[in-house]
Amino acid sequence: MEKRRRDFMGMALGAWAGIGALGVLYGAKRTWDPLPSVKAAGFTTIDLAGAKENELVVEKWRGKPIFVLKKTADMKEDGRDIVMGTDRFTVTVGLCTHLGCIPAYAKDEKEFKCACHGGVFDASGHNTFGPPPRALDVPPFRIEGTKLVLGEEGSEYKKMLADKLTNKV
Ligand code: FES
Repeated sequence: MEKRRRDFMGMALGAWAGIGALGVLYGAKRTWDPLPSVKAAGFTTIDLAGAKENELVVEKWRGKPIFVLKKTADMKEDGRDIVMGTDRFTVTVGLCTHLGCIPAYAKDEKEFKCACHGGVFDASGHNTFGPPPRALDVPPFRIEGTKLVLGEEGSEYKKMLADKLTNKV
């Protein structure tokens, strides 16, 4: 009798967890709809023309998640900003610099939060709280009009490296 009760509880919990996981996946899919992009031989070209302010887009480059965030006017200017005309973007590898979890973007607070150990990064990707030892890394990029070619080292990326604003990935 006791065993049947435990089996039932186990199944009920399993079903509940399954529904929760589906909800998370659906939520992730909604925020992870990519911008128009082309992938070829280690390069990913993303067209940022359609990006919306304060909406995180997650792209993929060489198996890594890449965060693309169009900054709002009230977000602080930063040496790590990728500037296209009057638009500014934060583009980083979406892996926490502590132990590699994928942080979530908290839209209202305009910061990235890592659920693993509580690390927090601001809208420019700087670590502001918790154990992460450095800012989120900026992937190599080259600007081509409204497009970003990930995997190529353009002059703006080289300047960030020279100014020690990112680690090389
Ligand atoms: Fe992000 Fe530890 S992996 S805070």
